[in-house]
Amino acid sequence: MRLATILVSLPAVLALWPQPSSLSLGKGTLWIEENIKFEIENPEAWKRRSGTPVGLPTDLEIIENSIKTTKNAIFQQNFVPWKFHPRNASYEPPMSPKQTISKVSIRQATSKSKNPPTENKSMDEYYALSVTANGDVEISSSTGIGILRALTTMSQLFYSHTKGGKYTPFAPVVVRDSPKFEHRGLNLDVARNYYPVRSITHLIDTMSTNKLNKLHLHITDSQSWPLEIPSLPDLAAKGAYSPGLVYTPNDIREIQLHGALRGVDVFLEIDMPGHTSSIYYAYPELISSFNVQPEWTSFALEPPSGTLKLNSSKVDTFLEKVLADLSPRISPYTNYFHTGGDEVSQSAYLRDETVKTSEQLKLRPHMARFIKRNHDQLRKAGLTPIVWQEMLTEWMLPMEKDVVVQAWQGGSAVNLITQQGHKAIAGNQENWYLDCGQGDWLNPSGGKNSYPFTGCSPRKNWRMVYTYDPLDQVDAKNHHLVIGGEAHIWSEQIDHINMDPVVWPRASAAAEVLWSGPRDANGKDRDIQEAAIRLSEFRERMVAMGVMAEPIQMPFCLQEPHQCDG
Ligand SMILES: *[C@@H]1O[C@H](CO)[C@@H](O)[C@H](O)[C@H]1NC(C)=O
Ligand SMILES: *[C@@H]1O[C@H](CO)[C@@H](O)[C@H](O)[C@H]1NC(C)=O
Ligand SMILES: *[C@@H]1O[C@H](CO)[C@@H](O)[C@H](O)[C@H]1NC(C)=O
Repeated sequence: MRLATILVSLPAVLALWPQPSSLSLGKGTLWIEENIKFEIENPEAWKRRSGTPVGLPTDLEIIENSIKTTKNAIFQQNFVPWKFHPRNASYEPPMSPKQTISKVSIRQATSKSKNPPTENKSMDEYYALSVTANGDVEISSSTGIGILRALTTMSQLFYSHTKGGKYTPFAPVVVRDSPKFEHRGLNLDVARNYYPVRSITHLIDTMSTNKLNKLHLHITDSQSWPLEIPSLPDLAAKGAYSPGLVYTPNDIREIQLHGALRGVDVFLEIDMPGHTSSIYYAYPELISSFNVQPEWTSFALEPPSGTLKLNSSKVDTFLEKVLADLSPRISPYTNYFHTGGDEVSQSAYLRDETVKTSEQLKLRPHMARFIKRNHDQLRKAGLTPIVWQEMLTEWMLPMEKDVVVQAWQGGSAVNLITQQGHKAIAGNQENWYLDCGQGDWLNPSGGKNSYPFTGCSPRKNWRMVYTYDPLDQVDAKNHHLVIGGEAHIWSEQIDHINMDPVVWPRASAAAEVLWSGPRDANGKDRDIQEAAIRLSEFRERMVAMGVMAEPIQMPFCLQEPHQCDG
């Protein structure tokens, strides 16, 4: 009787993050056998890559890899959910009798499978998952990535039992799911601080668990150039912080392949023409206004100042070489290349002998030509360009409509981008800058007068992240142009040591907004009080996987749900 009461009081939505678009959970218990079989029906049919037009790896490789990950998640990286039940409650199912799951059938859904690419990108990740009361599990999707998403959802249904074994208390289960937005990303700055490859693949694993699918590597900046370009060996040799702190072509391939197997498309950004001072160490003739001191603040937002010259054939030749070297290596794994374009300092161009002006009107044709050259080259290599919002919001550059524009200043920028007919990646420094809240990294000259050294405070509480709507302020007729969004990990004060707790579980809040949408099926804003418990549980799952995710609340708030609602 007591057990029944407790189970009834469980919110029906416990367990899954992000929330599926359609979900029904029961109250039956099923145990899962350690030697469970995953049966792929007709494996021949999966020996291609469906959905996205990118070539590698095949669906079958993705599915086989995710079966391994899923078994590992269920059997090795699970947890006892004591935090989510009243203290001393007997919430665990009895050890017998045991109804078990011994097999998962994986089927290709034919009804949804148009050969690649599908028009509706969210259909690429559509999947169905069902678990019957007597333990038959079936998963279907038209794509390997869809099967991967389904297995991720499935692994979240299971818990560890204190007496051994893994069980789900939610049978029968029916899930039909696809993402609201096709582009669900994190932007990781690996130039301000260097991140070892294994910390980036670790981030990719956690992103996959969160059903995030785009890792944007902001891979070069003014402070360091860690990206090895074999045809220009001095670039990273002199521009990296230290000789070992580089990403070799093999590293990039490893990261991209790791992502492809986990349903995370990894693309690179070379931010330009600003944010490029580190090129100076190898090619001083390409950079204007390098490291002006002490008045660097007049030439850049961060030291060292410096910007690529804007009307220089040497710069063109250099960029032609960089992109020619890079594009064929990365294009098997991604459709995108980000050419930056944020925070360009106009005053830095007064000292650029190829233009000698800081007037935007005079700089604009040069900027337009600069961008067009890069983008034309990328298009020929089969890559779609992405730029930061300033190219439109400040420079009002004419750009072809294939260019995707990324906002970091929120709704009005996203609206303007889509009004101009461009696809937009939403983002907002007020909500989705995960690095903020650590105080200043600059040493202010004022000493105590600069109290309290706030930097870009406040820290974006997960509720700030969760309540950002990528469609905020966007005209309804342009909603289809908002392809998704990215949360940002700028790395002035972050490296691989504190990455996990800075990113998780706050990025999980963004992941749910992007997968499930900012509103529920009834069009109401998602409920923070409901989400807090579910996110706390998902945090435990991430911790069990070896992710140093922060707690959302103390167990007191979780054991008796809604005790901590204000
Ligand atoms: C815990 O529950 C058991 C059985 O339900 C009961 O015998 C015991 O006294 C409880 N302990 C505490 C500390 O409440
Ligand atoms: C794409 O498919 C999803 C899932 O069925 C649906 O919710 C969405 O409205 C579709 N989008 C378009 C543009 O057709
Ligand atoms: C830009 O470069 C071209 C070719 O070198 C040159 O003819 C032109 O004068 C330059 N423009 C400016 C504004 O310096």
